[in-house]
Amino acid sequence: MLELLVDTDTGSDDAVALLLAALDDRVELTAVTTVAGNVPLPRATRNALLALELAGAGSVPVYQGCDRPVLRPLHTAQVVHGDDGMGDLGLADPLGSARPGHAVDVLLERARERPGELTLVTLGPLTNIAAALLRDRALLTRFRHVYCMIGAPDAVGNVSATAEFNAWADPEAAQIVAAAATPELVTWIGWDVSRQDAVMSPADQDRLRGLGTPLAEFTQGINRKVAEWSAAVTGLDGYDLPDPVAMAVVLRPELVAEAERAHVRVALGDEARGQTMTDRRLDAPPANLTLVRRVRERGFKDLLFDTLAKTLEPQP
Ligand code: BDR
Ligand code: CA
Repeated sequence: MLELLVDTDTGSDDAVALLLAALDDRVELTAVTTVAGNVPLPRATRNALLALELAGAGSVPVYQGCDRPVLRPLHTAQVVHGDDGMGDLGLADPLGSARPGHAVDVLLERARERPGELTLVTLGPLTNIAAALLRDRALLTRFRHVYCMIGAPDAVGNVSATAEFNAWADPEAAQIVAAAATPELVTWIGWDVSRQDAVMSPADQDRLRGLGTPLAEFTQGINRKVAEWSAAVTGLDGYDLPDPVAMAVVLRPELVAEAERAHVRVALGDEARGQTMTDRRLDAPPANLTLVRRVRERGFKDLLFDTLAKTLEPQP
């Protein structure tokens, strides 16, 4: 059984990633922690709870974390995901609420209690992880593995010319994590993978609508603002699913088609803020990260459609 701890700034694609994790029979979702990013922290928490409840996983504890980046003011991506981060569909409030306790404490405690057993998956800015790392410099070594949706190693950005949102939103946090990482322990899945291998084309969207399940309708609906934004900004042929494709790497590592080990820094200067600086010189410092560069698109979409085709028993 794969035991996951997921840290998320829940917007529309994070929500789909949570569905993938929560509905996988091989996974135990032990806790979800939230961070400000796509939306302000209370929204991220609400959206995480909503997604979990929809997946019949309302008993998974959710803990709130940092409400702004380490140094920078919070810049959300509501222009991408909608004011509510979920396509502005007017979704009902979740039934549950966050548990008492701070996400950073939860990360520290859970990792120490179960050394080498939990897999950490991050889907938002790395603020909570960086804050935890400052208190426990060995934090990353206490996980079985750490997977992060972050970065753009090909320097094609979605929030700026060259930067991916999660790295750009809190570059200091991202660099704190990169500096503490080793390629055996930490894998980054960047926006380059999403842009190439996880775009929901018009045909994919038709197939999704055709499923007719509540999970499929939810996924299509909450991503409608991303579809509009993609048409206007990234030029992709549909909306892309960065966090779900990262979660697919966690759930089905055999879907990775290309990966490399490299020395990576995150740019902190204003002009290149958040850029993934991958050093490919022969005399580069030792690799600190594994970067997934391509994922098998068909396998990812099969996992996605199989999950969203599920119909759930009503909860007692
Ligand atoms: C990442 O930023 C957010 O908008 C998405 O949820 C994803 O985590 C993509 O750059
Ligand atoms: Ca996210």
